Parts: sequence; C-alpha cells; structure tokens
Amino acid sequence: MVKASYLFIVAIYLGLASAQTFRVCVPPSVPKSVCEGLAKDNSNAVCQEATSSLECALKMSTFQSDISYFSPEETILFGFHQPNWFRVVATVRDTAKLDPYSFEAVAVVPVGHTDGFEGLRGGVYCHPGFDQADVKWSPRVRKTLENLAARTDHCEVNTDTTGKTSEEIEIDTLSQFFSAGCRPGTWSYSDAEDADLKNRYSNLCSRCGPNSDCSRYTIDMGSSVSGVNNDIRHIQALECLRTNSQNTPAVAYVAWDYVREYFTLRNPQQASSFAVLCSNGLTVPLNATNLADSISPCALVRQPWATIIASPNVASNVLNNMRTWWPNGSKPSGDTWQANLFTALTGGTSSAQVVFENFPVFPINYTRGIRVIPERRETCITPRNWCTTSADELVKCFWVRQASHILGLQPPITCVRKNNVFECLNDIRNSNAADFMSLDSNYGYLARVLYGLGPVKLVQNAAADTAKIAAFVKESAIGTISNFEQLRGKKACFPEFGGLANMAFVRTGQEVGVLSTAQCDYARAIGEFFSGGCAPGATDSSHAIGANSTFDASVLCSTCKYTTTPASNQVCSFDDINLYVGNKGAVACLADAENDVAFLDIRDISSNLAAAGLQANQIRALCRNNQLAATAGINVDNSCLLAHVVDAEVVTRRSDPMLTAVRGLLEKLDAFFGYTAANQLINLEIFSPFNTKSDLLFKDSAIGFTDPSPVSAHEPAKNYMELFDHLDKCTYSASGATAVHQRA
Ligand SMILES: *[C@@H]1O[C@H](CO)[C@@H](O)[C@H](O)[C@H]1NC(C)=O
Repeated sequence: MVKASYLFIVAIYLGLASAQTFRVCVPPSVPKSVCEGLAKDNSNAVCQEATSSLECALKMSTFQSDISYFSPEETILFGFHQPNWFRVVATVRDTAKLDPYSFEAVAVVPVGHTDGFEGLRGGVYCHPGFDQADVKWSPRVRKTLENLAARTDHCEVNTDTTGKTSEEIEIDTLSQFFSAGCRPGTWSYSDAEDADLKNRYSNLCSRCGPNSDCSRYTIDMGSSVSGVNNDIRHIQALECLRTNSQNTPAVAYVAWDYVREYFTLRNPQQASSFAVLCSNGLTVPLNATNLADSISPCALVRQPWATIIASPNVASNVLNNMRTWWPNGSKPSGDTWQANLFTALTGGTSSAQVVFENFPVFPINYTRGIRVIPERRETCITPRNWCTTSADELVKCFWVRQASHILGLQPPITCVRKNNVFECLNDIRNSNAADFMSLDSNYGYLARVLYGLGPVKLVQNAAADTAKIAAFVKESAIGTISNFEQLRGKKACFPEFGGLANMAFVRTGQEVGVLSTAQCDYARAIGEFFSGGCAPGATDSSHAIGANSTFDASVLCSTCKYTTTPASNQVCSFDDINLYVGNKGAVACLADAENDVAFLDIRDISSNLAAAGLQANQIRALCRNNQLAATAGINVDNSCLLAHVVDAEVVTRRSDPMLTAVRGLLEKLDAFFGYTAANQLINLEIFSPFNTKSDLLFKDSAIGFTDPSPVSAHEPAKNYMELFDHLDKCTYSASGATAVHQRA
C-alpha cells in the first residue's frame, strides 16, 4: 500500500503536466475491430487486450491499465474484495430502463397472506427457473427467497450430509417446506444427479404443467395480450401463482418489471388480490400507484448496474473527459474513436446508456445502498479447502473463492498455501486444513498408495496435451533386446520413481508376463527385475510406492548422475541436482552408455533428444504388445504406447464424506468459470493463465472435467482408470496375502 500511494501521487502530478492517453482494458468479448477503432484520429485512448475481465481488474490494480467495463456481479465482487481501491465513474444502463437498479427480485403472494416467510410453509412455490439462459440472476439471487423461507442454507442438527452435494441437501429441505410448485431448469450440473433429484423431489415440479420434465413451464397460458410475452418465465411463474393460490399459501419469486407487466396489462382486474412480501415479513398490496412505479415497494434483491471503473490516479480525469466524449451518455454517431470507446466500455449492448457519477466513488460506495452480500457464515457443508503450492496460485484461489461466494456457489471454498505437492498430499491425507487439489497424473500412483487419496474428477485435455508414455531402447542394442523379457537384469531410466512412466511399466510388465501379478510391492517388482538404473526419488519416503515394503530401492539409483557430487541426502534426489530427473533426464539417462531402456512421456521428446545429443533414429520404441516398433524414431502409434492418459486429476481423501460435495463444486466451477460457461456473470477463466501466469490451480492444458469412471467416454480418462486396476485389487482385495498397501 505504501508503494501504491506513492505511485498515486506521482501519477496525479504527471496527469496534470501532460495530455493523457487512457489505457482501456478489454476482455476477449470486445471485438478486435472495436479495439483497433480506439486508435483513430487524435484518440485519447489505447486498447489493451486481456484474457478476462478479472485480468483487467488485476492490471488496473497494478497501474498497468486505467479503465474497464465491469458487469454488475463483477462490480459487487470489487465492492467485496477490493472495497476502496477502484473508482466507479459511471453506470451502464439501458435506454429503455434508466432506473437505479438493473433488476429487482420480488416475492408476490395473495393479498391475505399472513405470518411472513413462515406463512409460506406447505404452500406452492412458483419460480422463473434455474437456467443459464437467464443470464442476469446468479444462483445466490435465484435462491434468495428459498433461503429466507426454508432456510435452505442451514442444516438441521441431525442432517446427514455424507455423500451428498449441497444441491441435494438444499432441495431436500425445500421440498419439505413447500408442498408443491415449479422450480424449472438445472438443479445440478451432473445430469444423473439432476434427473435423480427431480424424480425424488417431484413436488417441486408438480405445477410446471404436463410433460414439462421440470425443465420449463408447460401450463396453459390462455390467450396472449399485447405487450406481454407469454413465453417469458417470469410471466409464467406469475400465472402459476394466480392459478394455484386459492386455498393454500403460494408465492411467485420474479422480477418487478414483469409483475408490473402482468398486473397492468395482462390481469389488471386481479392486481388487488396480490401483494409483495417484504424482507421484514410484511406485505404491501399491489395497486395502480405502486404498479406505475418502476421501483418496487420492496424487493428481496436489488441489483446494481454494470459500471465503468477507473484506477484511482486517473478517475477524476477520466470522468471529466467522458462528459466531453459522450455528452449525453449515449453512443456518438459515426465510426469515431469516441464511438468505439463507448462500445468497448459498455459491454456490447446496443441500447446502452451511460449515467455519470457526480464524482468517482468506491465500488462499495456504489453497491452498498443497493445490494449487500453477507460475509460467510455457517453453511451446511463446511468450506472445502483448496491446496495451493505457490503465492500466485493462492491469489488465483482467493479470487475463485470470492467470485464463488458472490455468485452463491456451495459449498464455500477456502484456500491454503503449501510449499509443494507432497506437503499438499500429506495435509489432504491428514485432513489438515486441506481437502482437495488438482494433481499431475504423474503422481496418481503416489497419491493413491502413499496418501490414500482418490479422484473426484479427472481433468480433460485437448488431444495434444494428454500424457503419452512409451518405452525406448537403443537401436544399437536391437538384436539383444527385442522384447520385455530381454530387459531383465538390464538398467532402466525413469523420470521419477512412482511416477506415471514407472507405473505404466509395471502394468505392461504384468500384461506381458515378466512381472508377477501376485506382487503388490511395486518397488520390489521393479527393483528385482532390473539390475540398476535411475529412478529419481526411489529412496525418498515421499515416493515410497510400497508403503509397507521392506525392499531397498536404492538399486534404482545406481546410475543417476548429478550436477555436483551429491551430499548424502541428495543421492537419488528428484530435483535438478539429479541430471536424470524428469522426462528430459530420462532421455539423457538413455544416452548414457550404461543404461539400456527409458520409460518416459513423449511430449517434448524432440527437444529432450537434442539436449542429450541423441538422434531420433538412434532409438526405437518397445510397444505394449511386447514387440519393437516397425522403425526407429519417435513417431509412436497410440497402440504402441504403454499408457495414454489424462494429464491431471482432482484428488481428495478416498472415503471422505464430502467427496460428492467437492464433485458438485467442481461441476459448478466448470459451469460458471470454465470454457463452456456461456454469458459469465463474473468473467474469470479458471482453466486459463491468471495474470499471465501459467498452470495455476489447473494446468493450462485442462479444458474441463470428466468423471473418474472405467466407462468414461473420454478415452484417456478410461485408460487412466484402467491403469489402477491392479493397484485397486492389491489395495482392496479381501485376501490378506495381497492387501499390503492398505493404510488406515
Ligand atoms: C465512500 O463512502 C464513505 C462513507 O460514506 C465516505 O466517507 C467516502 O468519502 C466515500 N468515498 C468514495 C471515494 O466514494
């Protein structure tokens, strides 16, 4: 902060001294032509492209950018997370709606309703829907009424949360509170769970109409009335209320604009039979006067507008300039830089109208009077703790956590910082303030055997990013080595002990019959088969793949080479002191005359060969079917690979009662911050570099999740699960003789 305020003073000083060119940060949703159009004529603005709106915020917070557009939920996020840093200089409204709020969500009840929210118990619940299609309502907004009425965010003391998602617990509570209703749309981002919940809690779908699948309303809307669109869910929810409010309590939770439309144009004669239910539990009857007002008598949620936000050092200057660029707050005509700037800063709606603030205000000062997001409080499922291994990763985690909190995604996320993957695995195992992390599939075996963890989700990759493990022998040795049996007693190179390549060899060795399937001590299996080699980490306790093994794996360190003479604790280390560590090291190890075979991931093999001074035609793959590849070289068929699997998975404790809840959380993160998220409420890209730093929380190669199922439709995921078949049999076999890896 000391540094920031120093910059602040300098920047103001420079700002007065010279004509200013403002750096406008734009996310990818802004077309290139608009960005380029900022530079026309004597422009005062220059376009800066960013990978997301959140990256724009980060650039602004370090004075690398000056201005950007932010959505309503993003504005709320800054009010919450950086409450008095940025400055709101204007709001972006709609020419047809200049009200102070972008929407208001209200509860409409029959006029005789008594007893506040508790009075809704046993009644009918009419909701506009839980689809991504309604882009403006976050889950938090959608669930506000049910939280107030049924306390769906709280657990009864005896609620069993084991093996359940937050959705299941919420819906269960809701279904007990309301007797009937229609709450159409997506309840869970897992298709299977969604269908299951709608089946088990069908009372919450009972008023959607015939054959609706609970995906939408199919009720008879009667004849249409000019000015009212019967296809709009909010209008349908009001019709659901009207037709279901005779003898039971009933409520429709809808946007105020549609209440006005419904009761002034469509059913004016019935307006006086209904009222809005306020957060204090009192009702205000509808009448011609309050229906004529664009602001509701009382709302359960009021939403701020999108904003134009500037860094503190330039905010006043920006605001003064804006008044000259866009004198009446609308888009200037012509293809001028001012017009392009308007487009770049108003979120792409053609009917945008900018309303200037009187002076620059903190985001919290703008949002405070409109919508306040409560701080975290006790939730049904306790927060799940994400393990991170660097300061940058921790920062990304914090933003994901805050954005999820603003949107109301459950269970809540917390973030913890550790120094490396093994500390994380250890803390997850011990439930020591860490619950889950995305893990390189290279560590899949160690996570399972040594740490007792299991997959919640596998990470999907684009084809080029999957892990591909192959075995290579030297072309010069062909004749003496042409199958796996002939590798017995030879010396082998592995990128890392217990890693993917190491274990792919075990699996292939069992398949081709050179390793016994009765041997569950994999360290012994490998160490007795080869006479030596280099498998970095083989003597380190963090890599002990036979947890109860008495085998001395140091034989697998016999040919390692080091940058300098290693200290005793550096022998066989799995860091850069060991010249043969990793895929690059495994190639160097093979180039060493002493060694005979290398098992490694073939991504990046060309550059690794070059570094080791090997030609591609000096090596040949030994395939999974126990035969040499037809020709020398590094172009290896998928069928020849020893493993072709995903490059990462999300792990947690194998039998954790909250495993299902973490699965549900990841599905929501994908739905709201992943590549398939349409119309993001908060533009944070969870699988992309963050603030230009790669591989934080997830590798950049991740494109989504898939279930850890042996019948997964994603081939590398299916292969990955198969890779652990033998391990699972060893670990979970009823026969005591082979169950050597079972850990409490
Ligand atoms: C924000 O609000 C506080 C409290 O009302 C006020 O003291 C402060 O001057 C405001 N500042 C800005 C920049 O909005």
